[in-house]
Amino acid sequence: MPLFPWDDKLKTNHPNIDTDHKKLVDLVNKLYDAMLAGKGKDACGQVLNELINYTKTHFAMEERLMATHNYAKTAEHKSEHAKLIKEVSDFKVKFDAGSLTITASLLSFLRDWLINHISKSDKALADSLAGR
Ligand SMILES: [Fe+2]
Repeated sequence: MPLFPWDDKLKTNHPNIDTDHKKLVDLVNKLYDAMLAGKGKDACGQVLNELINYTKTHFAMEERLMATHNYAKTAEHKSEHAKLIKEVSDFKVKFDAGSLTITASLLSFLRDWLINHISKSDKALADSLAGR
């Protein structure tokens, strides 16, 4: 049972955004599996890097859409992205230094952040892009 099964309730109905979100959910599950399997720091670090890089790419894609469409809530939305990137980057520094490991609470935090952000901010963005 994955930590974070994809749920169609998370769909924003913007095809590119939904494709990226499914990939992010996969990566959170992949990190969970690596943790459960007791994979070492290098293996977990690789998945963590993949998750961070994909998240940055995805946020940049959403932010391009906001800019192109003059989205009204761009500032709030971008600041949610920036805050997450800062938190995860701070975690990564400690992980690399060996003072923190991947824990169930980190993964629950990422899952809950994604559910909350997708349900509110990304759905609002997708609705606006679709003229809804
Ligand atoms: Fe977003």
